Amino acid sequence: MSKRKVLSYLFIFSLSLMTWAEDGSKLWLRSPMPTNITLRIDSTMPNDDGYRISGRTVTARTQMGLLYGKYALLRGEQGESHPFYKLRILNHWDNLDGTIERGYAGNSIFWGILNSEFLIHNNSHSKNNIQLSTTNHQLLQHYAEACASIGINGTVLNNVNASPKILTSPYINKVKEIAGILRPWGIRVYLSVNFGSPKALGELKTADPMNPQVRKWWKKKVREIYKMIPDFGGFLVKANSEGQPGPFDYGRSHADGANMLADALEPYGGIVMWRSFVYGAKHQGEDRVKQAVSEFAELDGQFRDNVILQSKNGPLDFQPREPYAPIFDQMKHTAQMAELQITQEYLGQSKHLVYLAPMWQEFFSFVEPTRLVGIAGVANIGLDTNWCGHHFSQANWYAFGRLAWNPTLTSEQIAKEWLNQTFGSIHNSQFIFHNDTSLKLASMMLRSREACVDYMMPLGLHHIFKFDHHMGPEPDGFKADYPIEWCPVYYHRANKDSIGIDRSNTGTNATSQYREPYRSLYDNIETCPDEYLLWFHRVPWTYRLKSGLTLWEELQKHYNHGVNEADDFINIWQQAKPYIDEQRWQEVEDLLRFQQQDARNWRDVCLKYFGQIQSNRIKP
Ligand code: GCU
Repeated sequence: MSKRKVLSYLFIFSLSLMTWAEDGSKLWLRSPMPTNITLRIDSTMPNDDGYRISGRTVTARTQMGLLYGKYALLRGEQGESHPFYKLRILNHWDNLDGTIERGYAGNSIFWGILNSEFLIHNNSHSKNNIQLSTTNHQLLQHYAEACASIGINGTVLNNVNASPKILTSPYINKVKEIAGILRPWGIRVYLSVNFGSPKALGELKTADPMNPQVRKWWKKKVREIYKMIPDFGGFLVKANSEGQPGPFDYGRSHADGANMLADALEPYGGIVMWRSFVYGAKHQGEDRVKQAVSEFAELDGQFRDNVILQSKNGPLDFQPREPYAPIFDQMKHTAQMAELQITQEYLGQSKHLVYLAPMWQEFFSFVEPTRLVGIAGVANIGLDTNWCGHHFSQANWYAFGRLAWNPTLTSEQIAKEWLNQTFGSIHNSQFIFHNDTSLKLASMMLRSREACVDYMMPLGLHHIFKFDHHMGPEPDGFKADYPIEWCPVYYHRANKDSIGIDRSNTGTNATSQYREPYRSLYDNIETCPDEYLLWFHRVPWTYRLKSGLTLWEELQKHYNHGVNEADDFINIWQQAKPYIDEQRWQEVEDLLRFQQQDARNWRDVCLKYFGQIQSNRIKP
């Protein structure tokens, strides 16, 4: 082993010791690091940052492998492990003014309120002399270590609804600074870009991807970025979606747009993650859940090799439960990534305890992990002292990283690991937590997602949230001036006889986008699983489900079950009291009580509304 190699991995190791000691209380990284770990480089191992653990010896081919292995040893792993995906990326929806779209844990850790956005708005001529807020190196190191401890190796620093200003030199300088802090932890930076940037920044009259000046502009911009950040990862793009500019504005396809950016990035090894979350553009009027496939299936095979199509797990929008998105079946010649939402936009935000690993595992039970080349998670991280708003929301950040490393891990294993590291103490180089308590808490975590589905929108109901902020129920939501796709009544269509959307071959035929056996399974009301019933079918209130209960009875049963679960979470938490420090116990307790009230409110509002509709006391 060369001297340089030994020194540099020792450097990472000691850096990590430093940050562990410095602020233990906030994350799962909290105990003093054991000192008796041996690290070895073995150049015959596969070149993928994997590791082998035997006793207290960690062997790896790369320095990152050693770092990953060290954390694995702490959580009790032995044997060999290699990352399933090469791309394990957080997507921060952070705005340059420091706010976070769908962020529930304070402002951005990257972009401060003191930053230049204000100055640019108010003095556009001096945009090259602006002062960006000071970067908090210590905070970002801690963030990076947390990410590295679970194998995350990339991060998109800004919102998909991207400000063009991210591509101006003051911001690129700041990105360079951030990249420098994250680099020792094996984390590459990526940026969301606004497709209309050359025009929006006033540098060209068009952003048409076929225009030679536009192509040149992007090439020059990419060159400028790589000069500053040689290991820059690439771009994430939301185009022609929810008002964002895109190639469609110029009569061009998504492939034309993505390929132009891909050509600019290709010489440097950069990638384009092009999002398929589109609706209301070319296929306006069509069932919203069908529009991504309608838009992209015909482009399959037309994308450059360094373009990856990034799609949400479900075809609508991060609902508590959705069937998987059929775009994963349809694109056979295009590299694909799944986008999961760690931040709980539609699952009680940072106020409900909802552990998301079971939802993601469910997704992987339909979409073979091998169909994907990477995985992205919309981050739930902010400046809050506990990073994620709710102590248990940290478990979702943790679970995302662990599943991105190994999508076959069980939700239970991940929950236990997280509990041990978060609330346990270290014995014999491993985290241990009081066993009975740990089991009860794990069971609470494992049941929490289904509980949330039950008290919010069981049996395939979806999108009956309060307008815009999505916290709380609004089943009667309808305003003539909303786009229809944002109205809850559009999604449940309840009247006195029935409820749900017919997406079978007698309706919108969304079922036809699925591969067999799911196409037939979902298409037939008799075989459609209960959990997707009202997603795919319009069902009479008196219809008898597999349980023998009518739809209306079954709906009530689910809502009540969800509420009972929220009650039980409080009991479990009471029992955990002796084993948790006072501050964290109380903070979680307060939130669980809020969750209990909110669950009741969901049940009461929804059952009252649907009850009145079916008894014809109110009209939808
Ligand atoms: C959801 C979310 C938006 C977000 C969008 C997206 O609609 O509410 O805030 O911008 O998804 O994923 O692009």
